[in-house]
Amino acid sequence: MTTAQQPENPDAGAAQPGTRPPLAQTDWSQIPSPAFLVDVARLDANVAAVADAFASAGVALRPHFKTSKCLPVARKQLAAGAAGFTVSTPAEVKLLAEEGMPNLLWAHLPVGPGKVETVVTYAGAGVLTIILDSVAVAAPISAAAQQAGVEVPYLVEVNTGQGRTGVEPDQVLAVVTELDKLPGLRMRGVMTHEGHVGTHTVRSELEQAARKVGDDLAEVATQVREAGFTCDVVSVGATPSMRSAPFEPGVTEGRPGTYVYYDANQVRLGSCELDQCASSVLARVVSVNRPGSAIIDAGSKAMSSDIFIPELGMGTPVDLEGNPLPGISFASANEEHGFLVGDGTAALKVGDMLRIIPNHACGTSNMWSSALAVYPDGHTERWDIGARH
Ligand SMILES: Cc1ncc(COP(=O)(O)O)c(C=O)c1O
Repeated sequence: MTTAQQPENPDAGAAQPGTRPPLAQTDWSQIPSPAFLVDVARLDANVAAVADAFASAGVALRPHFKTSKCLPVARKQLAAGAAGFTVSTPAEVKLLAEEGMPNLLWAHLPVGPGKVETVVTYAGAGVLTIILDSVAVAAPISAAAQQAGVEVPYLVEVNTGQGRTGVEPDQVLAVVTELDKLPGLRMRGVMTHEGHVGTHTVRSELEQAARKVGDDLAEVATQVREAGFTCDVVSVGATPSMRSAPFEPGVTEGRPGTYVYYDANQVRLGSCELDQCASSVLARVVSVNRPGSAIIDAGSKAMSSDIFIPELGMGTPVDLEGNPLPGISFASANEEHGFLVGDGTAALKVGDMLRIIPNHACGTSNMWSSALAVYPDGHTERWDIGARH
């Protein structure tokens, strides 16, 4: 691994346009569409850049596996120095644990009998830490852990603004005090997911909000320690905030996930450039019968519809080399049909191939059972995508 300075400015890490190679090419004519493509050179660059930034700052990197759900990607992240992985579902826990991946953080509240069983199995095997935000979630886990004779390590989730799950910062001490009374559980620290920073489209404001998340969580950790509880892990996690929140004093760990592939939404937020996006959906034009539009064979079942962004539509169309296609936007989709619109569609004909950079790489990869990994020399490999719902 090479070493790099911790980024000093908000845009560090987003290399200048034109300094990276175009997307890898292969014999596209033989590849059925739609297809989920992973450009291996870009993936490797993304993995290395973020691993190096964390390593040089002395902060642990525990990438979120939900983005790729793909073991070859996880192996690259581990080889680059990841301290473990973040996961969100029992299937992700099992896939990584059975592969021998270390230090898993299940960053979703494990409620219900199947999830409690998963916790006891893998925490008992020494590979899993969970998150908790209430005694109601913790009590069944405590009971099951006691019965199985195992100890379950946990982080307390803190709401730093996302407003999803998590304890309000001024309630953390009270909740930690109650959780501490439950047998079979072991407090290790605090965590947050600062996805809300993505509501700032001005990059400097986004970075400021991200730094505040790091500071707020570190402050909570100090209070917890001063009250006599263990709080060794102080964990933040999101891609838009990954150049600032993890590097605030007192933060020990970052959990970005999307950075492995990036996506059109991260380009919009200034987290990366378009030519860092490593995943795309290969599509062919199937109809140009209506002027001003073209229909492609990638619809909502190829892209996922979980993030529709008005200015981005269903994704960003690029040519096979990754260059933007002026005058063409991906306006809407049916399940297997994508609607490209705009003046630029006049140049398209049936059979033309293009790629769509997804708005949300995680949602898109979850639509696919495998990725076609494209190497710089043009050879390709099938990579299984596992642990899907
Ligand atoms: C708990 C948690 N940690 C980390 C992440 C990674 O964030 P991102 O997708 O912005 O990389 C997520 C994303 O949803 C998350 O929910």
